[in-house]
Amino acid sequence: MRKKVTKAIFPVAGLGTRFLPATKSVPKEIMTLVDRPLIQYAIDEARAAGIKEFIFVTSRGKGALEDYFDTAPQLEAELRKKGKDDLLELLKNTNMDSGAIAYIRQHKAMGLGHAVWCARRLIGNEPFAVILPDDVIAAEKPCLQQMVEAYEETGGNIVAAMEVPQEKASSYGILDVKEDMGSIVSVRGMVEKPATGSEPSNLAVIGRYILTPRVLSNLNKIKVGAGGEIQLTDAIAQEIEADRPVYGYRFRGQRFDCGSKAGFLQATVSFALSRPDLRDELAMFLQSVVAEQRAAQ
Ligand code: UTP
Repeated sequence: MRKKVTKAIFPVAGLGTRFLPATKSVPKEIMTLVDRPLIQYAIDEARAAGIKEFIFVTSRGKGALEDYFDTAPQLEAELRKKGKDDLLELLKNTNMDSGAIAYIRQHKAMGLGHAVWCARRLIGNEPFAVILPDDVIAAEKPCLQQMVEAYEETGGNIVAAMEVPQEKASSYGILDVKEDMGSIVSVRGMVEKPATGSEPSNLAVIGRYILTPRVLSNLNKIKVGAGGEIQLTDAIAQEIEADRPVYGYRFRGQRFDCGSKAGFLQATVSFALSRPDLRDELAMFLQSVVAEQRAAQ
């Protein structure tokens, strides 16, 4: 029997420089899409996939994240007094059972691989998921749940993959595909941020992973890679070199890169348009903006 994936790491220790000055005092993961912070989307996705232990790799200035998952007795008492049961219900989703959530500090932003490695003692000898909250995925079946189901079939290491245009490939880890089996591809190699023209395929790795604990052992020995950071991709690629399986999983859904301003805005519009309470008003506004722009051209 394969061990179930019940632990997830959320690396949230990055500096978020693309959103300065906002991220000077607000963690990127607390920024909101409509009315929910990015981290709530990630947590909901993890819960849907059966995750029971939530491990945050944080850094200085991320205190708002810890408060977000705590109870808020004063606010809750006030809402109860006013009979706002719907809002109390909404807040329930933001609470975590005692012991279900852990925070580990990454003392220096040395890269995603290093952030994941910081959580090694809490993972132990089990398969685990990694979720990057700035990749938000709108999907009928949440992306991590799709991946857990694939993992139950294949085992090994699984990275979420999506097709990207060639000119964008140099911003991602790119898969070298051994065999394409449709939603799953087996992987011969992975290159982090390849120079344009040298990319082995158009399949890019995005921020969802299911990994074996061996990847953590690999991280013990990994040296600084692309961009002067310790790369998670390098530690996964070592599994391939050791002849252990790594798969790419073409998830069904739409991914928004909320680590970039354009992606964040697109996600905001898209999520707002999917909300019955906002859809009509926003659609009308967008139409008028586009019409004005056309007229001005
Ligand atoms: P990014 O590459 O988006 O970096 O990290 P960043 O610092 O968050 O943002 P920019 O590029 O400066 O605007 C991808 C994910 O990896 C985490 C980030 O928090 C984010 O979730 N990360 C990155 C760490 O936890 N530690 C690191 O050292 C680097």
